[in-house]
Amino acid sequence: MMLYSLLFVAGLCISRDVLASQVVKKEGFQFLLLAHFWPATSCVYFQNEGKDCYVSPDVKGWTIHGFWPSIPGTEKPDYCNNSMKFNFEEIKGLSQRLAVSWPYFEKGASKTELWEHEWTKHGTCAYTLPILKGELRYFNQTLNLHDELNISKTLGDSGICPSNEKKHTPLDFFNAVKKGIGKIPNIICLKDKKTNQIYLDQIWLCYNKQLQPMDCPDVSESQSLTSTLYFQSKAEEGISTASKSYFQECPKNEKIYFNPIPRE
Ligand SMILES: *[C@@H]1O[C@H](CO)[C@@H](O)[C@H](O)[C@H]1NC(C)=O
Ligand SMILES: *[C@@H]1O[C@H](CO)[C@@H](O)[C@H](O)[C@H]1NC(C)=O
Ligand SMILES: *[C@@H]1O[C@H](CO)[C@@H](O)[C@H](O)[C@H]1NC(C)=O
Repeated sequence: MMLYSLLFVAGLCISRDVLASQVVKKEGFQFLLLAHFWPATSCVYFQNEGKDCYVSPDVKGWTIHGFWPSIPGTEKPDYCNNSMKFNFEEIKGLSQRLAVSWPYFEKGASKTELWEHEWTKHGTCAYTLPILKGELRYFNQTLNLHDELNISKTLGDSGICPSNEKKHTPLDFFNAVKKGIGKIPNIICLKDKKTNQIYLDQIWLCYNKQLQPMDCPDVSESQSLTSTLYFQSKAEEGISTASKSYFQECPKNEKIYFNPIPRE
């Protein structure tokens, strides 16, 4: 949820940064986090915000939220160079792929809104890595990594399919991804403020600087907002460090929803 709210204050942050003469942060990073949205849960989020969502018929599965230069256990570097303005022209050639794999679900919003936000906040921090330098490389490489995955298939292989009835524990999703991809993911849940129902919202996968898959670190304290919902993954076999959690905003002993993508 924090990520969503950051998305919406982005306009504010950007305009404030622009006022400062030139903000250039030279923060390093150690790995990259590829965050994926489940479109049906994005709609729950927007409905909570009193907004409508729109999911194009071309969108059939998990979509990219962003690709974030990260440091384990700390806040991610962000807004690293405000001179690197987003220019859609540079990635126009990727339009088709972006529309299918990296859409923004707020009905009526500019289709470039998420891309501009992700570039300004995260892409400007990936710049120090030659393979991600510049808008075209950053967006293309992120799409390429997404194309290598089929998270719906990965979950399906463990018997988890979108359903309005059947629920699963956060650990079920964690285990399915870990088994299918062979690396530790982070699992992000979202609570519907109106109904208190909890949904699978995001799956985060991690990559090293050579863009090879790696285990995700545990979600840092600073990112775990609601301690009451904080899932301690003690139960997870093979993970001995009891204090670590790979879950955010997820319930400990409750099954959560993973609904089919809504169609108009
Ligand atoms: C910030 O971005 C501008 C515009 O691309 C570039 O000229 C400048 O070298 C960058 N600064 C750093 C420290 O990378
Ligand atoms: C995107 O990446 C692929 C794979 O590396 C490459 O073949 C393609 O030329 C790139 N596309 C653009 C527009 O840079
Ligand atoms: C992902 O896998 C499912 C089968 O589980 C398949 O129907 C779908 O076409 C695949 N998606 C892509 C983009 O290959």
